[in-house]
Amino acid sequence: MNIVDILAKKRDAQALTADEIAFLVKGAVDGSIADYQVTAFLMAGRIHGFTKEETLALTMEMAHSGEMIDLSDVEGIKVDKHSTGGVGDKTSLILLPIIAAAGLKGAKMSGRGLGHTGGTLDKLASIPGFRCDLAIDTFKEQVRKTGLSIISQTDGLVPADKLFYALRDVTATVDSIPLITASIMSKKLAMGADVLVLDVKYGSGALIKDEQESRMLGEMMVEVAKGTGMKAAAMLTSMEQPLGMAVGNALEVKEVLDVLHGEGPQDLREVAFAIAAEMMLLAGLKQNRAEARAYAAEIVQSGAALQKFEQMVLAQGGSTEFDSLPVAEQIIPLCAEKAGYIGSFDTAAIGHAAMLLGAGRRKKTDSIDPATGLIVPVKLGDRVTAEQPLAYLHINNTENLQDACRMLKEAICIQEDVPQKTAPLILDIIN
Ligand code: URA
Repeated sequence: MNIVDILAKKRDAQALTADEIAFLVKGAVDGSIADYQVTAFLMAGRIHGFTKEETLALTMEMAHSGEMIDLSDVEGIKVDKHSTGGVGDKTSLILLPIIAAAGLKGAKMSGRGLGHTGGTLDKLASIPGFRCDLAIDTFKEQVRKTGLSIISQTDGLVPADKLFYALRDVTATVDSIPLITASIMSKKLAMGADVLVLDVKYGSGALIKDEQESRMLGEMMVEVAKGTGMKAAAMLTSMEQPLGMAVGNALEVKEVLDVLHGEGPQDLREVAFAIAAEMMLLAGLKQNRAEARAYAAEIVQSGAALQKFEQMVLAQGGSTEFDSLPVAEQIIPLCAEKAGYIGSFDTAAIGHAAMLLGAGRRKKTDSIDPATGLIVPVKLGDRVTAEQPLAYLHINNTENLQDACRMLKEAICIQEDVPQKTAPLILDIIN
């Protein structure tokens, strides 16, 4: 087989065989195919698309390009989750304790945040002492004993994705639904869970903003999962506004604790409980959605989910003295300049404003300040008065304060009329 012939085929919009895809992925990882040739493949694929068969073959080959986690010696139904990323999205920290309390096993590798989106690991790292870098055997032992663990992705997992993503990032080829599918699903397959729920975000803060395209991504990922024998569902959920009110790491952990205490913002509770319910349905623990949703709420109300969260924190070296979570030195309110209704959010810009305050990173090597971020107490359609706070900025220095305030003023749009339609929080469930 010859890489130039393979590239010519893809350039001419012909579908590649599974063998040709395997040749390309293996060659990319062992270095026998040059980065510029891999890039040519990615660009041709971005332009012409990939068939379902090509996408499945690419996903499988990428998944097997490195270490595969074997969870078969952990008893029970192993459950994983992926979110395509958002602002204020902290649902994993709520739903994994819920499903662990329900008797399922939550085994998850998570990532750090980048750009406007937050990462679960950064949120957990704001808990003093919490460690995410557990060895796989320790991770599995913790899942066996406590029912849940969240750790960082190991270096050996899916090297093909690390290489492809780095090339896509600098060649304008990230926004391809089949390539995103292969990237996400290869990592999920390598994790070896039995059940997977994908939270596919749509709206102004999402990776894919368009409703139809995010539906296509959800459908493709579920199809690939099913093609590999995994039980999977995708939920299409709104990122037209931040989820909950807190954006920023320790602030988000506090909001998670509020929910686990039976309180917290309604939208966050709804999405977290709905994902937990979908996991229970796929695992065969409950037979219908309403029953599963009510069970998730009941587990929280009983305190069992909070107990699971605390067990996970303690097992991973963290402190459950949550009063000692880092807090910012100053809280600055940003007030409405006029009365009206909240008509729209530029949610990505809200994430960027939080990043400017220190809650996120512009590039992978940046450090973050866990205490900083935003509380956004208003929601789409709310009536606000002039001078009413639209956001509270939690800061430890004033370096980027002016820019963050300017960004937030533009991102939270106040209009005179009641907004006609707000995006549904849960648009659809694909399974
Ligand atoms: N997240 C991933 O893991 N991969 C992509 O390609 C896009 C988002």
